[in-house]
Amino acid sequence: MKEIFLYGEQIGKGNLILVNGEHGLKSEPERKELEKIVSHYGEIFLKRQVFRMMFHIFQEIQCFDEIVPVSGYRSSKEQMAIYENSKREKGEEFTKKYVARPNHSEHQTGLAIDLAKNTENIDFLCPYFPRKGICQKFREKAPLYGFIERYKRGKEETTNIAEEPWHFRYVGYPHSEWMEKGNMTLEEYIEYLKTFKEEEQHLITTCKDREFELFYVPIEEKERKKISIPDRTFCQASGDNEGGIILTLWRNLL
Ligand code: DAL
Ligand code: ZN
Repeated sequence: MKEIFLYGEQIGKGNLILVNGEHGLKSEPERKELEKIVSHYGEIFLKRQVFRMMFHIFQEIQCFDEIVPVSGYRSSKEQMAIYENSKREKGEEFTKKYVARPNHSEHQTGLAIDLAKNTENIDFLCPYFPRKGICQKFREKAPLYGFIERYKRGKEETTNIAEEPWHFRYVGYPHSEWMEKGNMTLEEYIEYLKTFKEEEQHLITTCKDREFELFYVPIEEKERKKISIPDRTFCQASGDNEGGIILTLWRNLL
């Protein structure tokens, strides 16, 4: 076994952070963590790993001319401007359904991307990304590369956002596949993971012929905790942006 330390300040960082109406952002990505895409729509920034994984999907399905990134990382100032403009131009009801309040948007994490089918007029807030053709092909590949369709129809009561077929959120593998298979939103998934505590039974799952072990460690903001993990594992830690850290062990890798 080897020992690792977890720190309370990790709660607001990582691929699995839950950012929604109830959970505001605790930390923003630094500029140097972001990678630029020059799309037909202008310059778009994403966290480096998110950019890479999206590029892999684009390469695999060869959709560079057909799918357009529309919106990625937004600063809190940008989200504020989008929110205020939307309220002015589209009204309160629409804005509540489709635009997160400043500091409550996943776009501020650099982990979310809005995509559009390449057409002449692309709507910035509600881009057209149909459930057919190349867009559907992207949607089907997404979970294999760590992305989820974040705001699904039928889950509005959990996410508090209307269906957004164009908004993809990077959560990392194997979480994306596990969530997709279980038809779980990020809100539901975090609740589910909380049931696998460090000292109790862990979640063991096999995805893409790899074995994963997942568990949840509650932690206070100023706390430091020592955790033992098996040798020969690759360990990833992500905060949930609430009160804990999710550990993902890639077993028998090394
Ligand atoms: N459209 C999503 C909810 C956002 O504004 O973050
Ligand atoms: Zn979006």
